Amino acid sequence: MILSTSVQLAKTYLEKGGVIGLPTETVYGLAGNIWDQEAINKIFTIKERPKSHPLIAHVAHWEQVESIATNIPAMAQLLADKFWPGPLTMILSAKPNVPSEATAGLGTIAVRMPEHPLALKLLSALPFPLVAPSANPFGKISPTSAMHVFSYFKGKIPLTLDGGNCKVGLESTIIGFKDDAVVIYRQGIISKDDILEVIPNTAVYYDIDNQSNYPGSHRAHYAPKTPLIITDSLAETLEKYDNSKIGLLVLGSDTESTYSNIAAIRNLSKANDLKEAASNLYAFLHELDSLNLDMIVAELFPASDLGIVLNDKLIRASSQFDQHA
Ligand code: TXA
Ligand code: MG
Repeated sequence: MILSTSVQLAKTYLEKGGVIGLPTETVYGLAGNIWDQEAINKIFTIKERPKSHPLIAHVAHWEQVESIATNIPAMAQLLADKFWPGPLTMILSAKPNVPSEATAGLGTIAVRMPEHPLALKLLSALPFPLVAPSANPFGKISPTSAMHVFSYFKGKIPLTLDGGNCKVGLESTIIGFKDDAVVIYRQGIISKDDILEVIPNTAVYYDIDNQSNYPGSHRAHYAPKTPLIITDSLAETLEKYDNSKIGLLVLGSDTESTYSNIAAIRNLSKANDLKEAASNLYAFLHELDSLNLDMIVAELFPASDLGIVLNDKLIRASSQFDQHA
């Protein structure tokens, strides 16, 4: 696999039906031409993803949305005006000619405009939208750098467009439209309140855990190889596993570094900034996972706004919850 910043090279591979690693502001995607069923099949095979999970289409301008979606609600246009390019995915009615491989036969297509200069440059140069799931094998942690994509898929895809580290570091917020309401299926850094600011008189509700088919709702998601233990008391968990080699994921101060069983520490944000923590979370999980430790230990985030979203990611990645309180 080549890591390159050449949009031209990426375009060449995609036009030939190839699949490439695509940088976005959230996480890297595994991208192919939406109109090319062979390319879409490759994506599912490379990722080992069940066919029942549809893909997100990535676009650079509104005409590309209209080429794949129909009956677009006025609310969708308002939200796009506010949040695109950016980490908001909207599920719309698919035009009948959109390949069912991309929609999993649901009749809907998820769409977003990524906020990444290389991705936008590439999409603007292409005569077709790109479908792309996150560029990780099914059930593994999403990649937030070109090197992560490389270590997952070297030998399987020809190129990853190297756009550096993903700024947001968490998958996009996914919403759909039901009757006159907005349904949040997966939350990223764009929150319910952010959405309500644009469409204040609209019912906005969550439907995150109920539907097996829905965005990221699988329990075993984003998991590292190393067991991840979440705890509500770092001190107690560190004492309990005093013979283990532990990688510690902390937020704020590094006071626990005195324990001798700690082999590595990654501080998600010394300033306690949850946005900064979000942008580091997957990268640090990847790093700690590569160190051959016995376990990774992480404390739950404060349960506010983004903290709840981050806790959800941690819980999905974890093998155990050490509860003391
Ligand atoms: O930030 C992101 O959204 C990244 C970057 C690459 O854009 N993409 C991403 O894709 O996270 P993926 O495939 O890993 O997660 C998308 C989720 C999946 O759980 C999929 O089942 C769901 O969205 N999804 C996609 N299309 C859908 C649809 N039409 N209806 C319901 N769920 C859909
Ligand atoms: Mg994914």
